[in-house]
Amino acid sequence: MTMINFKSITKSLVITYCLGQLAACSKDYNFTPAPVPYVPPCDTCATVELSLKTDILPIFTSKCNSCHSSIKPILTAAAAYASLATYVNTGTPANSLLLTTFDSPGKMSSVTTTITAADKKKILDWITQGAKNN
Ligand code: HEC
Repeated sequence: MTMINFKSITKSLVITYCLGQLAACSKDYNFTPAPVPYVPPCDTCATVELSLKTDILPIFTSKCNSCHSSIKPILTAAAAYASLATYVNTGTPANSLLLTTFDSPGKMSSVTTTITAADKKKILDWITQGAKNN
């Protein structure tokens, strides 16, 4: 005949109760992390609209067209927009051939040009804004 072991049941109940209290307790001490400072979606993006005519073409004229008035992409004022269609990637601007070609082993990486980081940033921002004929 089996005896109901009250002592053991009581012990289990007490342990369960205590664990429950502990769990409840730990909930009370669930602290809220300090608020994360607001970071704008892109803190380096240009806030003004860049213009092909006034921001980008001058770079081409002074730094590219000694060669690119006859080598593709043709970067003269009259031809640049149409010529650049396959060199810009508005979906993933940083992957645009117009920019990646300056990275090793890009075709331009072995050609001397005085393009600067600031020029590249302007070109990147212009592409990010949709590479408009503006
Ligand atoms: C000294 C001459 C020279 C200058 C200056 C120059 N390039 Fe080039 N560029 C070349 C040559 C040569 C090629 C390789 C062409 C080829 O392989 O068909 C090339 C290739 C490129 C390509 C890749 C073409 C392709 O089809 O893959 C791009 C984009 C490009 N240049 C952009 C520029 C830009 C933008 C500037 C100015 C910041 C510039 N280049 C300045 C000579 C020059």
